Amino acid sequence: MLAQSGLENAARLLGLGFLVLNHSPIVVARVVEGRNLETPTNGRQVIKLDTDWRFWHSFENLDGITYDQLKAYILPCANDFITNPSDHYQRPSSEPNITVQYADKKFDDSNWETVKVPHDWAIKGPFYVGADAPVGGGMGRLPVQGVGWYRRKITVEQGDTDKAIYLDIDGAMSYAIVWLNGKLLGGWPYGYNSFRLDLTPYLLAGKDNQLAIRLDNPMQSSRWNIPTNMFQCTQYPGGGLYRNVWLTKVDKTHVGQSGTYITTEEVSSSSATLNLAVSVDNKANFKRDIHISTDVFKLNLETGKTGPKIASFPRASVSVLPGQSVDSSSSTIVQNPQLWGVWTSQQPSMYIAITKLHVGADDQVIDTYETRFGIRTFDPSSKGLLVNGEHVRIQGVNQHHDLGALGAAFNVRAAERQLEILRDLGVNAIRTSHNPPAPELLDLLDQMGFLVMDEIFDSWEIQKNPNDFHLIFPEWHEADLRSFIRRDRNHPSIYSWSVGNEVGEQFTEADGTAVAQGLVDIVHETDPTRPVTASMNYAKPNMTFPTAFDIISLNYQGEGIRDTPPYSHLPGITTPPLYSAFHSAFPEKLIEGSETASALSSRGTYIFPVTGEISAPINDTSGGNSTTMQVSAYELYTANFGSSADKTFAGQDPYSFVAGEYVWTGFDYLGEPTPYDAARSSYSGIVDLAGFPKDRYYLYQSRWRPDLRTAHILPHWTWPDRLGKVTPVHVFSSADKAELFLNGKSQGYLAREKYSYRFRWDNIVYAPGEVHVVTYKNGKVWAKATVETVGNATSLRLTADQSSISADGEDLAYITVEVIDSKGRVVPHASNNITFDVAGAGELVATDNGDPADLTVFPSKQRKAYSGLALAIVRAKTGEPGPITITASGANLKTGRVVIKAL
Ligand SMILES: *[C@@H]1O[C@H](CO)[C@@H](O)[C@H](O)[C@H]1NC(C)=O
Ligand SMILES: *[C@@H]1O[C@H](CO)[C@@H](O)[C@H](O)[C@H]1NC(C)=O
Ligand SMILES: *[C@@H]1O[C@H](CO)[C@@H](O)[C@H](O)[C@H]1NC(C)=O
Ligand SMILES: *[C@@H]1O[C@H](CO)[C@@H](O)[C@H](O)[C@H]1NC(C)=O
Ligand SMILES: *[C@@H]1O[C@H](CO)[C@@H](O)[C@H](O)[C@H]1NC(C)=O
Ligand SMILES: *[C@@H]1O[C@H](CO)[C@@H](O)[C@H](O)[C@H]1NC(C)=O
Repeated sequence: MLAQSGLENAARLLGLGFLVLNHSPIVVARVVEGRNLETPTNGRQVIKLDTDWRFWHSFENLDGITYDQLKAYILPCANDFITNPSDHYQRPSSEPNITVQYADKKFDDSNWETVKVPHDWAIKGPFYVGADAPVGGGMGRLPVQGVGWYRRKITVEQGDTDKAIYLDIDGAMSYAIVWLNGKLLGGWPYGYNSFRLDLTPYLLAGKDNQLAIRLDNPMQSSRWNIPTNMFQCTQYPGGGLYRNVWLTKVDKTHVGQSGTYITTEEVSSSSATLNLAVSVDNKANFKRDIHISTDVFKLNLETGKTGPKIASFPRASVSVLPGQSVDSSSSTIVQNPQLWGVWTSQQPSMYIAITKLHVGADDQVIDTYETRFGIRTFDPSSKGLLVNGEHVRIQGVNQHHDLGALGAAFNVRAAERQLEILRDLGVNAIRTSHNPPAPELLDLLDQMGFLVMDEIFDSWEIQKNPNDFHLIFPEWHEADLRSFIRRDRNHPSIYSWSVGNEVGEQFTEADGTAVAQGLVDIVHETDPTRPVTASMNYAKPNMTFPTAFDIISLNYQGEGIRDTPPYSHLPGITTPPLYSAFHSAFPEKLIEGSETASALSSRGTYIFPVTGEISAPINDTSGGNSTTMQVSAYELYTANFGSSADKTFAGQDPYSFVAGEYVWTGFDYLGEPTPYDAARSSYSGIVDLAGFPKDRYYLYQSRWRPDLRTAHILPHWTWPDRLGKVTPVHVFSSADKAELFLNGKSQGYLAREKYSYRFRWDNIVYAPGEVHVVTYKNGKVWAKATVETVGNATSLRLTADQSSISADGEDLAYITVEVIDSKGRVVPHASNNITFDVAGAGELVATDNGDPADLTVFPSKQRKAYSGLALAIVRAKTGEPGPITITASGANLKTGRVVIKAL
């Protein structure tokens, strides 16, 4: 049998039969810009430093080091991203007066743990419990705090000694300080940004170079545990070297860090003008005369390989003095370009520019640098977003950076799976809330045809938490912002930059607006081609703050906050729906909902009675249960400031100028388990933490992919203790009429009113048997669905999302376990204990079930099913091809098994 996705299984659970995933193969370039070449013959060697790290962590600051103490040595690392030379930082002439034993070459780290990078020190737990836990629900109840040290040897070949050698870190959480051979090199405090350090002056030929990296997550440095503050937004940061780390060896004269910038203009289907800027750094101690050549090739997105050459830029010559950097610009024309486009009405196409630096009479190539890019037009206006001239509604979701049970440790397949599930739902846009993402995520988004709002900051000068980014904003914001824009500006999927989220500066009018304007100016200088925004949950149309931005991005305010009767008893600010007022105040600007909904639910859990409203806040008599820490999946309940999907849609649809929305959130994420702080993960996802769709998935899918012939019934129909009780039945479909049957008897025929988004039969009295719906569109049968009362659990059924995975130590298989009855139907209440076993060429990485209240550690091989499902994440062992057998067993259940191959 072919491998099936968890989605198909979930669809089956929810009575839908099989759902066919649109799974086109995505070959992710697993390396990022400028890093695709592993062969030194091209003049550039990029080595992934993933294995052989030694790691040690302490909750106490045992080494006594602080960022402030060493700041003078770290700040100069920002200089490349600070444009005014007089603002550059000077490294003190003497070395710091401290002894750092863990950075010492001679320090014996043999007792330290051996880890592979990307690595998140906190994800294995255990979870903290209790109201006074050092890390509460807001940050995922996981031990992210404290100091972590990573040590690794670096080998320098004899031939490398005249090269420039860099350490490139895609993300280190946080306050990274780096030593080589006991010498302090520098660091980078903002844990979400990528940075480069020059190792060259400190390296010795041979094996014996000792790298040591100290990371520090001070308490309250992410946002957490401020229950009474209106900024009660929090997230799980993870801890450690949680993204890739690279060693780049290149000629001393080379293309600089993020050193190419490609823009397009006069784009049509017959031709496009490409503009290229290349910055050449000369770290040699003599002048270099360089010829720059750049050829443009088609990029084959199926194979990841370079296709035919389609254009060349004119060769350019530059002279670069020692220690200098010179920019060279040129333009060329591409005939009949294949445009990058947005799924579903368009297709992504991409190109790759290969830039070479040549020297001497024989034109020797000393550096080769690859830049992937796309050709497309974005036209944001008050009418919405045009992509290549076509109006594309933004059907977006917010995504935090964690990958559920894998934590913050980046994994390409885990991210790709999230995007596949979201794309199938109809999502076409991602907001990287609220921080720079892994570079590989942007590669995936480019290749899968998503739009991106790339966001950098969550706070500016004004704190949300005592130790958050505001402490370093004055000294670092320019460097963080410029390095972020330069890193990401060649990605065709990014249509907008966001410089902030719900910042405190919204409240300070002229002062806050000046800070905003300063950030916007930096972005415009670094990338003049894209609009800039920041998400506003407070600023109003008549305030100055929104004037700083090219795009108006509203968090919750567009649809209104606490503005309907079910919310009237709540404390807090009431905001009427503001889309119209913002449109009047800024008639030229694109307006989007950058956070909408914050609707909450637990997959497959239904709580009675059901509100008759279309949207209501949660308490113990309204959709929630604070004892079990579950929220009803009738998909009508929200955070106190939120709106259900139905209320959100009704708040947007009267206004054709609304460009679209980003739902809070696509996936559940670690931390911020509103409304139950004792839980571990959020309730806001359309998809749960394990990747299983909640009922809401089909509500959004009906809206975003209206051509899919689906009808989705909720709740399930196995309620032995609800005999004779009112049990509302709701149906999600893009149909306009529907008729419901209970055990063959019609329960009435409903037509969907304007601005209503579900069919609801609220007075159905439960009797076991079968619920069946027939939906109609334009008078014709559209889709049907059935949900049956199922029997007791008898067996476990396993399915894998991929039938084979690479034996590269990185690729993952996601194994869905269903608890089923004797007829193979998923038992919707099942919470059986399941024990996993993985044999052969693979290993178990983590398990989950999507229950926000489950505090079983993620690496556990025992996991309770939640609403009938559980998940195992399996990795192949590096370089060990062969079969991998995954088994799941449970008391009184027939064991389930699936075999996949490691290739
Ligand atoms: C180094 O620091 C110690 C303790 O802070 C101090 O006593 C000593 O004088 C310092 N040495 C130098 C050379 O600055
Ligand atoms: C903005 O408008 C609101 C009412 O819509 C009003 O209460 C407030 O005073 C106005 N603020 C400014 C700065 O004009
Ligand atoms: C619970 O929520 C409902 C519906 O919004 C509301 O009517 C009720 O007053 C709330 N109960 C409490 C105790 O706040
Ligand atoms: C919450 O769930 C528990 C366990 O099922 C139940 O005993 C309790 O009555 C529920 N509480 C509410 C408020 O529904
Ligand atoms: C299901 O299990 C319950 C309790 O274990 C038992 O009473 C009932 O008869 C079983 N039902 C079926 C259909 O086997
Ligand atoms: C599941 O396992 C846990 C821990 O071993 C145990 O406490 C619990 O009773 C088990 N639950 C069921 C339904 O077997």
